[in-house]
Amino acid sequence: MAEAGIAAPGLWAVVAAVSVVVIDALVRWAHGWAREASLGAGRRARLPPGDMGWPVVGTMWSFIWAFKSGNPDSFIGSFVRRCVLRAHEITLLIRGRGHYIITLAGDARHTYRFGRTGVYRAFMFSSPTILVTTPDACKRVAMDDDGFTVGWPKATVALLGAKSFLTLPYEEHRRLRKLTAAPINGFDALTTYLGFIDRTVVSALRRWSEAGEIEFLTELRRMTFEIIVQIFLTAADSATMRALESSYTDFNYGIRAMAINLPGFAFHKAFKARKKLVSVLQGVLNERRAAKRLPGSSMDMMDRLIEAEDEHGRRLGDEEIIDILIMYLNAGHESSGHISMWATLFLQETPEIFAKAKVIDETLRFVNISFISFREATKDVFVNGYLIPKGWKVQLWYRSVHVDPEVYPDPKNFNPSRWKGRLPRTGEFLPFGLGTRLCPGNDLAKLEISVFLHHFLLGYKLTRTNQNCRIRYLPHPRPVDNCLAKITAVSIE
Ligand code: HEM
Repeated sequence: MAEAGIAAPGLWAVVAAVSVVVIDALVRWAHGWAREASLGAGRRARLPPGDMGWPVVGTMWSFIWAFKSGNPDSFIGSFVRRCVLRAHEITLLIRGRGHYIITLAGDARHTYRFGRTGVYRAFMFSSPTILVTTPDACKRVAMDDDGFTVGWPKATVALLGAKSFLTLPYEEHRRLRKLTAAPINGFDALTTYLGFIDRTVVSALRRWSEAGEIEFLTELRRMTFEIIVQIFLTAADSATMRALESSYTDFNYGIRAMAINLPGFAFHKAFKARKKLVSVLQGVLNERRAAKRLPGSSMDMMDRLIEAEDEHGRRLGDEEIIDILIMYLNAGHESSGHISMWATLFLQETPEIFAKAKVIDETLRFVNISFISFREATKDVFVNGYLIPKGWKVQLWYRSVHVDPEVYPDPKNFNPSRWKGRLPRTGEFLPFGLGTRLCPGNDLAKLEISVFLHHFLLGYKLTRTNQNCRIRYLPHPRPVDNCLAKITAVSIE
């Protein structure tokens, strides 16, 4: 076992290290067994490789640790990784659960070696979960409405609302999605907003360039929020706008957190923010219902929702309208604001890229704003030869696809040239998801970001205060200082 020349550790150190590994393995095995036993031996044998972790926390610690430590890809990497064994390590092979390795120097650690199977089992957000990480497997799940429904974590559903798209039955989702997506998609619809977006961007850039140091990301989020509020609620007064905007900041931190409603936890703060959002939107809705729209006058999204009727003449209730608005107003500004910031930073830092097209696609791939999406299996489904049992949660790891060197060579390099002449196969490029849940705001988002970059690149320069600021990855990748910077006008438009 121990290699000649390596200092022999004390017997107790070895016994302690072996005990830790054995106890860890036993607890994981017992937890896995408790969660999987009801499947029966036959179905259990068809599950993908993976690890349920410890009871209660499951694999959440390693997930949170990976994202907090600045290396988010190490989480899925720990399932895929092939470890290199060194001579002075003791190896315990536990079937289907990877290698446990302890070094004799007392540095205990474990490593998995499941390879690139594309599906892994885990225990996350309090549920047995299958992680899906490769283009073909993501495509298989995202396009299969018969085998899967949406399966977001409790916190997300509680915050976005029980009547938002996250929980609606298939037919109801289809109907409301058609109603709300049509006015924000396609050339004709978007042309309506172009003038407003353009004016908002131009005046924001001018204002920032006169303001001294600003939090660039915070300002961009405000700007994209102004745009989405205009589209959904028309001219909301500035007090309403501020009340909504400030609540969304706290709201967002809870979206991908554990649903722990205790002071100090992100979800608790976010839930309070949701209550504020509901009360502000209820006020706007009451006013709108009381005012009654004149026939022939222009309609915003709130009017469309108020007037929508299903085939039985049923109209949407207040709760339904408010949940749909909370979801859209959130989805409609956070991601576009973040992507605009990152695209600006990448462009400034790599001047040779300035002239090249496809910068937005590369930023979407590289930054991974929506790094996972959630489903739930409605029946037993086989993906890549492995069983996804009925009722289990499924996570589509869009991020993993985008940083997979087999799909994008040298993936950690921001390189818009990779898009030259490249048409990604279905499942390879997933910043907006895929299938019937594809982001309905994708055209609008790209329009906003393009208009912003156009004006920024023509007339402004950004100087960051903290050039090498640390990046935080939850809930979205962002510099911890929100991109503190000065915007300077470099030419008169
Ligand atoms: C860069 C900007 C954006 C990115 C990266 C993004 C990404 C995504 C992703 C990955 C999904 C989930 C797809 C799935 O479940 O597989 C999604 C859903 C959604 N997005 Fe976006 N989005 C962006 C901008 C927007 C905008 C501007 C709006 C609104 C106007 C919007 C509204 C929505 C809505 C309502 C859903 C839920 C769709 C459903 O469940 O049917 N998003 N988005």
